[in-house]
Amino acid sequence: MKGTIRVFPDRETLAFAAAHYFLSVGQAAIMHTGRFMVALSGGSTPRLLFQRLAVPRLQDALEWERVHIFWGDERCVLPDAPESNFRMARETLIDYLPIPEANVHRFMTELAPKEAALKYVEELQTSFGLSAGSPPPSFDLVLLGLGGDGHTASLFPGTDVLGELEQWVAALYVEKLAAWRVTLTPVVLNASKDVLFLVSGRGKAKVVKEVLCGVRRPEDLPAQLIQPVSNNLHWFIDSPAAEELFLRSKERRWHG
Ligand code: 6PG
Repeated sequence: MKGTIRVFPDRETLAFAAAHYFLSVGQAAIMHTGRFMVALSGGSTPRLLFQRLAVPRLQDALEWERVHIFWGDERCVLPDAPESNFRMARETLIDYLPIPEANVHRFMTELAPKEAALKYVEELQTSFGLSAGSPPPSFDLVLLGLGGDGHTASLFPGTDVLGELEQWVAALYVEKLAAWRVTLTPVVLNASKDVLFLVSGRGKAKVVKEVLCGVRRPEDLPAQLIQPVSNNLHWFIDSPAAEELFLRSKERRWHG
């Protein structure tokens, strides 16, 4: 894997640095193309980042009217369900910023999982001006988290989606969760211009070391599948999550 690792003292400084990275990538994208196409991660880690981005003094840091919000994955629950990734982002970020409703591209999880996945393909095609058979959409930035089992987005160990080489979106039943998920596949995630993993907490220390320094075994550690063709792969990790990483400096490039 090629990329950079940055370790921060705690989750607050991690969120602060991630917010500034998000804004800098967004500003560059808007300058270059007139818009910022970003896919958010789910779970709990990005909450602090979203809250940081929504603070009034940062609201002028980006032309939010030119930002298009997507998700890397979603739980197959209603959009107002407590565990919805969309709901979390709406409550911590979207409701506080002048992002046009048409620029918020959530998974239609009120539909059956496979239908929601197909609809999202259409949403991607329309948003990126692509058609069936086109190369995959290339996000300006994809945010990703890391689960304790090495999953990212909803790419869970041992699931068929890990071997997907063509489809952009997949619906999958995750046995261990006894729940359906919809997710972007590595086809789209690795077409991104920039990928930022955010990982926080001592509970992730073991899996961080396995993913970044261990043997390559993506069937068990799906986060190892993420290697954008741009090679812009960044890991922002707080100290507790980096506890088992022996880094000589606070930032280094590694070629595992
Ligand atoms: C989800 C996420 C998932 C998440 C990791 C980490 O829908 O849950 O997309 O991939 O990023 O499970 O979750 P935490 O940030 O809650 O540890």
